[in-house]
Amino acid sequence: MKTIIEPFRIKSIEPITMTTRSQRQTFLQEVDYNLFKLHSKDVIIDLLTDSGTGAMSAKQWAAIMGGDESYAGSPSFERFQSAVQNLMPFDHIIPTHQGRAAEAILFSILAKPGKNFPNNTHFDTTRGNIEAGGAMAHDLVIDEGKDPTNLHPFKGNMNLQKLESYLTEHGDSVPCVMLTITNNAGGGQPVSLENIRAVAKIAKAHGRPFIIDGCRFAENAYFIKKREDGQQNRSISDIVRDCFADADGMTMSAKKDAFANIGGWLALNDPDLADLARARLIQTEGFPTYGGLAGRDLDAIAQGLTEIVEEDYLAYRIRTNEYIVERLDNMGIPVVKPAGGHAVFIDARAWLSHIPPLQYPGQSVAAALYETGGIRSCEIGTVMFGRHPDGTESPAAMDLVRLAMPRRTYTQSHADYIIEAFGELAEIKQDLRGFRIVKEPKLMRHFTCQFEPLS
Ligand code: F0G
Repeated sequence: MKTIIEPFRIKSIEPITMTTRSQRQTFLQEVDYNLFKLHSKDVIIDLLTDSGTGAMSAKQWAAIMGGDESYAGSPSFERFQSAVQNLMPFDHIIPTHQGRAAEAILFSILAKPGKNFPNNTHFDTTRGNIEAGGAMAHDLVIDEGKDPTNLHPFKGNMNLQKLESYLTEHGDSVPCVMLTITNNAGGGQPVSLENIRAVAKIAKAHGRPFIIDGCRFAENAYFIKKREDGQQNRSISDIVRDCFADADGMTMSAKKDAFANIGGWLALNDPDLADLARARLIQTEGFPTYGGLAGRDLDAIAQGLTEIVEEDYLAYRIRTNEYIVERLDNMGIPVVKPAGGHAVFIDARAWLSHIPPLQYPGQSVAAALYETGGIRSCEIGTVMFGRHPDGTESPAAMDLVRLAMPRRTYTQSHADYIIEAFGELAEIKQDLRGFRIVKEPKLMRHFTCQFEPLS
């Protein structure tokens, strides 16, 4: 059979409240056109993030009942630890309440003024935690990764020449080399096993620890299996193990590729660094056998890790995004290609070329998509990155709109509905107008700023 179906049946459902276009127009006005401020009950399909929004399986809910809530020595921790170590064989597994908490602990130790951190592309919380310590974060993704139309199979790869010269130039000021798989900020694009191994080798040659941000490790492994020579006959678990084999540690958000609604971890091999991290963990998150989590969360993660590496699930997951990308592409809507692992990205600057970047074409697409279909997406462009600390503003590198797919949550007909909404937008796109920001905070304005549509 050719059709790839959702490889699960639905046992429990959450009703969606349907709304009309005129209701949505009112809601948009009430939230000053900022989609972060919408009530989720007023959203029909919520593609704001793939983080913590997935559906847990019957086995995960059953595991939750088996959670042990002891403060210390909980068997839930042991199950969590062995599930992590089965895929990522690090010596020290330190649970945290989410990915950014793992980053905060790691960078509270490593990121000091004068220090420098390379990555393919730092996710915004990673960059935030590095910069909060007074250190600098640099993105060294390959050039193909910055071109939305380039069909390179591994657009998340690190530029190895740049990494080599970076490490030579910055020497001892680099506490570790980071690599994000998949590269979320670069469109959910994968990193090849060859590139991961090469980064590990370069880091080692320079005596630098190599830390992987592994949030979407299973999606990355699936792309390796499909696209990298010699990987086709291997299991996803084996590929995952190879991805982490040469690393010295990882940060992780279990809200992505562990099918959990909350959780994360920091994993390390260096015992001294792990001791420092655990001391910090006790201060900020909790005792090392629960981190910031309930025992039941640790059990949900342990079970989730056995399910996320199932190939039928990954085939359906990746195909959903490809399906949407192919159809939008056929309609002439500029999309980031190839499709990413966790999201579809629309190139709003190219699509609404009549709206200048400082009038936020991404915001215009996101607001219109909500008005048309009740679909919530996220602008990743000049609204998010265009304001500088001194209050000035300039266009971001790109104006994208991200449709992030929650895991196991929506079906084929939801995908068709999204495509249909874009079809309607395509017909009126010349009439779409830009926005003006009328009120904004100094930092991270996209979460709370107020917009006004330009007439
Ligand atoms: N690293 C990457 C690559 C991420 O995508 C995220 C979160 C984090 C770290 C932080 O993890 O949310 O558990 O603290 N990304 C979400 C998103 C929020 O929507 O892309 P967290």
